Amino acid sequence: MKNNQNLMEKIVSLAKRRGFVYQGSEIYGGLAGTWDYGPLGVALKNNIKNSWWKKFVDDREDMYGLDASILMNAKVWEASGHLKNFTERLVECKECKKQFRADYVEGKNCPVCKGEFAKEKQFNEMFETNFGASKDSTSVAYLRPETAQGIFVNFKNIIDSFHPRLPFGIAQIGKAFRNEINARDFLFRTREFEQMEIEYFFRGEEWEKHFENWRTWSWEWLNEIGFTKDSVHELEVPDGNRAHYSYKTIDFEYDFPFGRSELFGLAYRTDYDLKNHGLDYLDDVAGEKFIPHVIEPSFGVDRIVFAILSQTYTEDELGDEGRVYLKLPANIAPVKVAVFPLLKNKPELVKKAREVYKMIRKEIPQVMFDDNGNIGKRYRRQDEIGTPNCITIDFDTLEDNTVTLRDRDTGGQKRIKVEEIVSSVSI
Ligand code: GAP
Repeated sequence: MKNNQNLMEKIVSLAKRRGFVYQGSEIYGGLAGTWDYGPLGVALKNNIKNSWWKKFVDDREDMYGLDASILMNAKVWEASGHLKNFTERLVECKECKKQFRADYVEGKNCPVCKGEFAKEKQFNEMFETNFGASKDSTSVAYLRPETAQGIFVNFKNIIDSFHPRLPFGIAQIGKAFRNEINARDFLFRTREFEQMEIEYFFRGEEWEKHFENWRTWSWEWLNEIGFTKDSVHELEVPDGNRAHYSYKTIDFEYDFPFGRSELFGLAYRTDYDLKNHGLDYLDDVAGEKFIPHVIEPSFGVDRIVFAILSQTYTEDELGDEGRVYLKLPANIAPVKVAVFPLLKNKPELVKKAREVYKMIRKEIPQVMFDDNGNIGKRYRRQDEIGTPNCITIDFDTLEDNTVTLRDRDTGGQKRIKVEEIVSSVSI
């Protein structure tokens, strides 16, 4: 297991330097637990989300997409049990007033000033706000702490619009908010984050089969974005540690630089949510009304981004020089192809390189043109952001319409024809 502060610092620094992730509200000293995605971070995140959506929605007949509101009626959270149960144990130091999640600290004293802790309290992590101009108990609303409830409250709408037969699922990607007592570890525990969630509905007696299916499909998707069986570990969450709605949960854990922790979860939520929202399903063939049960694979986008950056961050030697590169799978790399003219001050090379760049862009949108610095520096810059393919236009290109294609991982180069670029590069 990694516990590597050094690696953590290197990842956070690369993420900032190369425009993946910036601290939220940075010029005002930051806002703890918030992070802003820069141009390459957005591209990486979109690639991850698109790959998930394709696998779990577009490529299936039994899935329906949804994009529900972040602000939801307070009654939703009463019915879902979040108002009562979405709490963490909080301890506060009597001396310095610092607050901690009780399960993050050991003993009865503050790790910062050694002062004594006051009596433990339960703290509800939902962000509260007020709706409209008045600020009283009737105007209280909550930012959703999970996207799942947006799905449950639209269960009837989807049935009325599409008449799906069981089993079927509803998928959603969107922001969730938690007023974490201790936001920490870069993108791991933040106060605003994104989830990709599926609620999959079926007859209760079939739950074990559907749980196993979703376990398999989750692994398939993990493999598609570059995680292997040895990099993610399953942990069945014991009684007493599961969320209030769950009968069985498997946490899929990753060895983050700070230690092994939950990447995403797979839960059997029984009929808990639909029952509490007063919703049911009519099987008009069997002539039977009942409450379906639910399997929920719940992925955190930001944790996946963090795990991918950690997993692909690589240092090696290439041509006697040390280098840093992100060994990103091509399908999620923010830039698939970089195009360079060998020399910036030769207009004929720049013109040809621009033509090639535009041609590639028509087929592969995530392409970058770079003519800054010497060619070695450009390769290093592209390595650092994980670009799998670099194309160089040189004087031979003007003669025979061939270019150099360079592979990120090996640094190996080969000559190919311009017309072969799109079919030769890994994307
Ligand atoms: N609907 C189920 C649910 O929300 P969860 O285990 O509390 O379950 C699901 O959250 C996933 O959301 C986690 O596995 C994690 O990837 C992500 N997540 C939860 N809290 C987070 C936080 N504070 N910061 C970043 N990601 C978080």
